[in-house]
Amino acid sequence: MAKTVLGIEFGSSYVSIVKHGEGMVLKQSNLVAVKKQNNNYYNYCVGEKAKNLLDKTDDRIVVFSPVNGGEIISMPHAIYELKEYLNQLEVKRNMFNKTQIILAVSTALNKEEKKKYIELCESVGAKDVILIPKIICSALGENINIGANNARLIVDIGGGTVDCAVINLYTIIEGSTLALGGRNLDTTIVDYVKQKYNALIGVKSAQLLKEQIGSLYPNDGAEMEVNAVDITTNTPLFLKITAKDIFEATYLFLDEVIKIIKTTINTLSPEISSDVVRNGITICGGYSKMVGLEKYLRQKLGLNILISDNSESATINGLNKIVNQHDLLEKILLNL
Ligand SMILES: Nc1ncnc2c1ncn2[C@@H]1O[C@H](COP(=O)(O)OP(=O)(O)OP(=O)(O)O)[C@@H](O)[C@H]1O
Ligand SMILES: [Mg+2]
Repeated sequence: MAKTVLGIEFGSSYVSIVKHGEGMVLKQSNLVAVKKQNNNYYNYCVGEKAKNLLDKTDDRIVVFSPVNGGEIISMPHAIYELKEYLNQLEVKRNMFNKTQIILAVSTALNKEEKKKYIELCESVGAKDVILIPKIICSALGENINIGANNARLIVDIGGGTVDCAVINLYTIIEGSTLALGGRNLDTTIVDYVKQKYNALIGVKSAQLLKEQIGSLYPNDGAEMEVNAVDITTNTPLFLKITAKDIFEATYLFLDEVIKIIKTTINTLSPEISSDVVRNGITICGGYSKMVGLEKYLRQKLGLNILISDNSESATINGLNKIVNQHDLLEKILLNL
């Protein structure tokens, strides 16, 4: 029987899976719902089904992500979730000794945290597990020639991490990571609305506001109505939120992102630094879709900012290349 090769990004916001010869076979929100019964919590559902329950139930159902800041924080739930997805893909347990899993993980993980990802794959039956820094995958997804002697700075702004790295000759020569991302912005928006409007909105609404009207243009007049509850009277209401609100609630996050980019650049040798200045900075990950980001970063950093059309899928697109090109995998592993 031929070997099955799967590439998995078990990200803070999404789980994406690619399969050799088939491309993307699954993308789901990285969420698990558990249900309370007789004082115990039981696994209830995963992915989009779990997301649909967010802010919709009482405290008998709890919805959460088993990954935070790029790190597995609940192994039993991560295993439950991955098993569900592999069942959906009909990857049978008895086929697992013939399955190789290549996982894209954050560069910042320490040995113990990396071991957890290996354990996760082994727990679903895989025998052959390889971890690859996700920023390498993102660079490949952005069509960067990572083998060239031409340093490139890439920043992946995801749901739970910001990974910043300079890559040259298949190697990460400098890098920095923040355990913060778009998901943190959703809770920041909920807090901001609570303070400013004395009203409660759900994190799902906050995410929608950020994605639909969020903008870094100071004069953006976009606005959107969401369901809310008045905190004083406890009555439901429609609340109009503006692009300026979203900016006010979230712009400090970009100070952190800019700080790690500057710190990374300041540690480079003059030769590498001149490559980076000439090539500009590639931005990817879900948050790269924020309206006005290119201009905002260009003005703050004084460098060219590159954001491609598929920048939100950079990691999984790059992983797909690795899964389909064995020689590329070998070159990356040789230089890790
Ligand atoms: N248009 C948009 N504007 C702002 N943020 C967006 C937009 N579209 C998606 N996002 C945010 O991007 C985040 C998801 O990014 P991504 O898919 O890269 O995460 P991930 O790979 O699962 O997480 P990580 O790599 O950090 O573990 C979410 O917080 C989502 O709300
Ligand atoms: Mg990611």
